[in-house]
Amino acid sequence: MRCAVISRKIDLRSYYGKALAQIADRIESVDHPVTEGADAVRIALAWHPHPDAFERYPNLKAVCTIGAGADNVLACPSLPSHVHVVRVVDPGQAQMMAGFVSWHVIWHQRQFATFMQHQRDRIWQRLEQRPASAVPVGILGYGKIGERVAAHLAGLGFPVKAWSRTPKPMAPGVRGFHDRDGLFAMLAETEVLVNLLPLTPETRNLLNRDVFKAMPPGGYLIQTGRGEQMVEADLLAALESGQLSGASLDVFAIEPLPPSHAFWHHPKIVMTPHDACDISADALTATLIATAAAVQAGEPPPHAVDRQRGY
Ligand code: NAP
Ligand code: GLV
Repeated sequence: MRCAVISRKIDLRSYYGKALAQIADRIESVDHPVTEGADAVRIALAWHPHPDAFERYPNLKAVCTIGAGADNVLACPSLPSHVHVVRVVDPGQAQMMAGFVSWHVIWHQRQFATFMQHQRDRIWQRLEQRPASAVPVGILGYGKIGERVAAHLAGLGFPVKAWSRTPKPMAPGVRGFHDRDGLFAMLAETEVLVNLLPLTPETRNLLNRDVFKAMPPGGYLIQTGRGEQMVEADLLAALESGQLSGASLDVFAIEPLPPSHAFWHHPKIVMTPHDACDISADALTATLIATAAAVQAGEPPPHAVDRQRGY
């Protein structure tokens, strides 16, 4: 089956060229814009597609993303309404995210920013340390990734709560919350807030001053969802006032973050370049193969997102 490879932001071939070559007997991948045989393209692999990208492929049936979040494909104006959008579900990615988030929770809990400053200043000073059980963590999103992160943190001894759109059975050691009242009830008991929500109209700008104010003073934010979910000015104000003691940011409204941005040199911010976790090449090829098989059979592909819901 012919697959168009479409990306405006990153060179998908440099990341996944080898993996695509390994499945070339089943999926013929061709780079966008496909000039000859565009009619034969039935699936696409896309990440931040060009706004008019899908106009070229009249027989397209499904688009696979290269990650858990499908927001950038769903937002593409030329995406036809009948086309399935397929996300990757990769337990290895969720595990990598669990490690990443745990590192940042412990960074805050064990006061590593202070230790690093002390090292720079050659100050030998022990700090009073709190056990994990004294540092409640609230997770926004209890999906494929949030669930794994929650279980990992609970295993490390942190009291963990998680917020989802619908009520759900929770893993041992994790308390569940839903709806707006539930969000604010969770925030009132949250020291470290972890964002693992998909970007939808409901979650855009959700991390704002009301949310930060609802947390006990001195809280910490770990932002690993999407940049558009956070009001940047509200974060800076919360850091300035001490309402938040710090933030770890992996995602930004504009990526790459412009060199002039205030986040780069903020003393209370730890940053990574949207690199909290990756999907494996195996997970990507398995997704493409399952999608192609479903398209061939005229069935909805596994892990197709609900386009109405937005994730
Ligand atoms: P998922 O399996 O689709 O889970 C999404 C979770 O968010 C679900 O629990 C869902 O609730 C909840 N949710 C959605 N809208 C909500 C709302 N309006 N109010 C409350 N809860 C809401 O997604 P996932 O695989 O866990 O990934 C989550 C997101 O993490 C991705 O979409 C992406 O933005 C981000 N991500 C970032 C990176 C990175 O490198 N920084 C890597 C991977 C993923 P229900 O359970 O009730 O449906
Ligand atoms: C990365 O951001 C992903 O959505 O997997």
